[in-house]
Amino acid sequence: MGKDVIIALDFESREKALGFLDRFAGEARKPFVKIGMELYYAEGPAIVREVKARGHKIFLDLKLHDIPNTVKKAMAVLSNLDVDMVNLHAAGTRAMMEAALEGVTRPDGARPLVIAVTQLTSTSQERMASDLLIERPLDQVVLHYAKCAAQAGLDGVVCSPLEAGTVHDACGSGFVTVTPGVRFADGDVGDQVRVTTPAKARETGSDYIVVGRPITQAEDPVAAYRRCVEEFVG
Ligand code: C5P
Repeated sequence: MGKDVIIALDFESREKALGFLDRFAGEARKPFVKIGMELYYAEGPAIVREVKARGHKIFLDLKLHDIPNTVKKAMAVLSNLDVDMVNLHAAGTRAMMEAALEGVTRPDGARPLVIAVTQLTSTSQERMASDLLIERPLDQVVLHYAKCAAQAGLDGVVCSPLEAGTVHDACGSGFVTVTPGVRFADGDVGDQVRVTTPAKARETGSDYIVVGRPITQAEDPVAAYRRCVEEFVG
């Protein structure tokens, strides 16, 4: 699995997102970027096509979760965008994940990587028990969701870098771990709680790190991106 740094393009408009990417115009290595709900809902599929046309790989982070037939059809539409990675909630069940895979696979058999969200990092053990009535320990729940995703034929999960090793042990080294919550050792933590440096994420076996503010809010985003790549990919 080729390791890579994915920049979270968390901007509310096309102008801001493209203005940010303009800074990377001179880079030989075009960053892999993540387009999430904020930018996608603001600008629609056009922004995906535009960023793709600039030569970036794209992780479309829309976290689908609905009945299997609806997710299958939505994934079929998204497959026309020719992105490199998409995701959904494992809580939608194995049937939903299987339907998603079917929908996203193009007639020639090609498809993006399909990644499952397990439990969001904003969900605490207490909330999971009180609001979702899930009593098991959080790490067991995350691992169970990862195994369900693997059984459904998905390519990997979003998880904490600290969980990457256990997920690989349970689901295989080829099962992809995409890990947010990354900060430089000397940087601001912001609202993330369990953070890891790019170098530590490399040690724990993450395949992709998702980095937002440490790059997007840096004085010199290109330098911050290069530092991330240097520490994580080597
Ligand atoms: O700015 P920061 O580096 O915290 O951004 C991390 C990105 O990863 C954001 O786009 C956030 O929504 C996303 N993410 C996360 N934790 C998860 C899943 C996604 O931080 N569990």
